[in-house]
Amino acid sequence: MNPAIRRYWPQYTWSNVLAMAKNMKSQPKRCAEPFQGRLVVITGATSGVGFHTARKYASMGARVLMINRNEDKSERVRKELSDEFGASVDYIIADLAVLADIQRAGRYLADLQAPIDALIHNAGLHLTTRSETIDGLEVNFVLHYLSTFIITSMLLDKYRRDGTGRILFVGSEAYRFAAWGLDLDDLQWERRRYAGIKAYGAGKLAQLLSMHRFAAELAPHGVTVNAMHPGMVRTETGKDNGRLYRWYKRNLIDGRSMSPEVSAEALYYLGASSEPARTSDTFFHLTTEEELAPPARDLAAAEALWARTVELLRRKGVTA
Ligand SMILES: NC(=O)c1ccc[n+]([C@@H]2O[C@H](COP(=O)([O-])OP(=O)(O)OC[C@H]3O[C@@H](n4cnc5c(N)ncnc54)[C@H](OP(=O)(O)O)[C@@H]3O)[C@@H](O)[C@H]2O)c1
Repeated sequence: MNPAIRRYWPQYTWSNVLAMAKNMKSQPKRCAEPFQGRLVVITGATSGVGFHTARKYASMGARVLMINRNEDKSERVRKELSDEFGASVDYIIADLAVLADIQRAGRYLADLQAPIDALIHNAGLHLTTRSETIDGLEVNFVLHYLSTFIITSMLLDKYRRDGTGRILFVGSEAYRFAAWGLDLDDLQWERRRYAGIKAYGAGKLAQLLSMHRFAAELAPHGVTVNAMHPGMVRTETGKDNGRLYRWYKRNLIDGRSMSPEVSAEALYYLGASSEPARTSDTFFHLTTEEELAPPARDLAAAEALWARTVELLRRKGVTA
């Protein structure tokens, strides 16, 4: 039997799976506390979850800084939110699948004078076919994991100095599709048959594993690091795939999905409410705390992944 299956199989329980199924029917807690004049940074705020989250924070008085890859869409969102709410909305342009852009965004944030009260790593996509970035890395791995790893690492000193902030990873229950953990010898999906949902799940699982270490690093400094599943919501996700997938999503998925306003309420609660202020290293299904499945609780795997990542970034000339 595959050693990973042997390792995780005895740890799987029905109660863990049933809890997730129950949470899928939940509505998020809401937060009515304002965010007046405080800074929220959101990646991928041009549509879907990110857009509605930016909107929610702007409506509550936040200063919003978006990290997006498309200038026209960013300008449209900036104008809409500042016209509607009189909010301070700004953006920087970065393709978060490109190592140089990720580092530039990280440097920009690290140089900010003001504390980052909430940092929401949201940008994401779903690809049915394997695709590589200009750095020769698999896209899911970079966008869902490396970009959040690099930016968060570059901000550690700032967070230690500022002594405040909440970091939120927008993850996905799809991390469960990486049911037997990560293949540390094939993080780029070069040797295995690529399956979109598995590669997506692996990227989200890697992000969850990094949460444990970041949360431990920042706990003494009053900074929390949590992850959340934003619900199954109707967004632009999957738009980069072929016609068949888009038909399937439009006709079989979207009708059963919620509005991304639900995700935005949850991300506002997690970033702004005084209720979960000290909670860290926790996965939320919307706003409900949920026990992680075994591969995402594996601290030895988290350490091994961390070491591999540092080595990969060293080879790519990235200082994070
Ligand atoms: N929708 C769901 O049911 C669901 C479920 C679980 C988890 N999620 C997670 O929720 C997050 C938001 O997704 P969504 O559903 O709101 O999808 P979406 O509507 O497609 O939004 C994705 C956002 O990410 C941005 N983005 C994609 N690739 C990028 C890149 N290389 N660099 C910078 N920005 C990039 C997109 O920018 P462009 O506008 O330029 O494309 C867009 O702003 C993702 O992390 C996703 O995995 C969604």
